[in-house]
Amino acid sequence: MATKIKALVLQKPGGWSNLMIREITKPRPKPGEVLVRVFAAALNHRDLWIVEGQYAGIRYPTILGSDGCGVVERTGSMEDGHWIGKEVIINPAINWGPDPRAQSNDFEILGMPRKGTFAEYVVVPSDRLAVKPEHLSYAEAAALPLAGLTAYRAVFTQADVQKGDKVLITGIGGGVAQMAFLFAKTVGAEVWVTTGSEWKLARALESGAAGGVNYQEAEWDTQLLRETGGFDVIIDSAGGDQLNTLLKLLKPGRILVTYGATLGRPSGLDLHRVFWRQLCIQGTTMGNDEEFAEMVAFVQKHRIKPVIDTVYAFDQILEAFDVMRRGMQFGKLVVEFQVEDDFFRRRRRAPKAAEVSTAKEAAEPVTEAPAEMPEQQETKKKKTVTKKKKGAQQEKKRATKKTKAATAGKTKKQTAKKTTKATKSSTAKKRTTAKKASAKKSKAKKQKKQKKK
Ligand SMILES: NC(=O)c1ccc[n+]([C@@H]2O[C@H](COP(=O)([O-])OP(=O)(O)OC[C@H]3O[C@@H](n4cnc5c(N)ncnc54)[C@H](OP(=O)(O)O)[C@@H]3O)[C@@H](O)[C@H]2O)c1
Repeated sequence: MATKIKALVLQKPGGWSNLMIREITKPRPKPGEVLVRVFAAALNHRDLWIVEGQYAGIRYPTILGSDGCGVVERTGSMEDGHWIGKEVIINPAINWGPDPRAQSNDFEILGMPRKGTFAEYVVVPSDRLAVKPEHLSYAEAAALPLAGLTAYRAVFTQADVQKGDKVLITGIGGGVAQMAFLFAKTVGAEVWVTTGSEWKLARALESGAAGGVNYQEAEWDTQLLRETGGFDVIIDSAGGDQLNTLLKLLKPGRILVTYGATLGRPSGLDLHRVFWRQLCIQGTTMGNDEEFAEMVAFVQKHRIKPVIDTVYAFDQILEAFDVMRRGMQFGKLVVEFQVEDDFFRRRRRAPKAAEVSTAKEAAEPVTEAPAEMPEQQETKKKKTVTKKKKGAQQEKKRATKKTKAATAGKTKKQTAKKTTKATKSSTAKKRTTAKKASAKKSKAKKQKKQKKK
């Protein structure tokens, strides 16, 4: 019977009431794919847009979740066998294509249409894996991929942030904004922030922001301009009509990188300002494979840790969604899956002799695609069957021998018992007869004596 696993399923259009944890069949990897047991997964605003029906090309039912960290349990082909047992993170950008400047038409993001990481197990192409940076916990590692990749491309590929640059990151409470902040700080930029709440501003200043403003306050833009004299780089995901305000904060000939439109489309664009002040508005989305590899290496080298707001148990994932919907988080919202108490102990200790074959079986790729070498697989199957048959026959022989021996032993004992019993009874009989005979003799003697008298 197929194993069932827990997953967060978005059943159909209509929003939150159609988002629920359900039991689904454990997926199996095809050739070129791997099965990852998910330890932790992180939310992205994309998940929220999809639930609310505000995303292009939504397909139902679907399992959301673009970010995950876990261990590879199975592979669909032999050549990916080296991944088994490895702790990994998943690159959610699939089919970027050959042009490093922009993704291909086949580009997709893990977690709709492809089933995502909000499940105990996820199947992904094996070339989407990267070894989990060892300095990160499972939750931190799960928080890294999508936000890290988007921020890396925005900060380095698009804006080319350098030491000493004055950088403004809007909406610092967000997951991508946090990573952009950490990356820009790491190379020595002077980083300023905007946010919608005072406590988030205080947290950002504690974390090393040069300064910041609350975008809910009147004239936050003039205050920023006054304090900084303008920015070399602005990294923004809010969009909306605020975009024109941000353009006013750029120094001439500098760049604004946009990766989102949380506030929607701007009703107009201050085009005169753009061309007269030689401004660049650069769009960006996630990143290519080289950028993902570079991002992970950068994070490892500088031992950067994604900022996590809260880690929830998977069963509480709807609470995490609610926090994101209300914009209450500072950093990433992560869910962790319950792993049996002895899971890690079992994985880390050397297998006992009796378990070697089981461990080997687990290490063998799923053979769902026998097209590669059907004969060998058939022979292997037959061999296994013959082996099993032989084993059974030997076992049967051994059992028969045992029974015979046991029966023989039993008979011997019984015979011995019988013999003893017989011997005992014949001796007793003999004794009785002898007693009787001697009694007879002495009686005859007595009679003879009396006659003589
Ligand atoms: N193109 C891409 O590849 C890509 C990748 C990831 C995300 N995105 C987009 O980027 C946006 C953020 O994504 P996320 O996952 O980081 O979301 P998130 O963690 O939910 O963060 C959303 C953030 O938006 C900020 N925000 C809300 N209203 C704002 C305003 N008026 N001005 C400035 N900031 C405002 C908030 O900042 P405060 O809490 O500080 O107020 C909030 O933290 C979303 O629109 C998402 O779709 C795009």
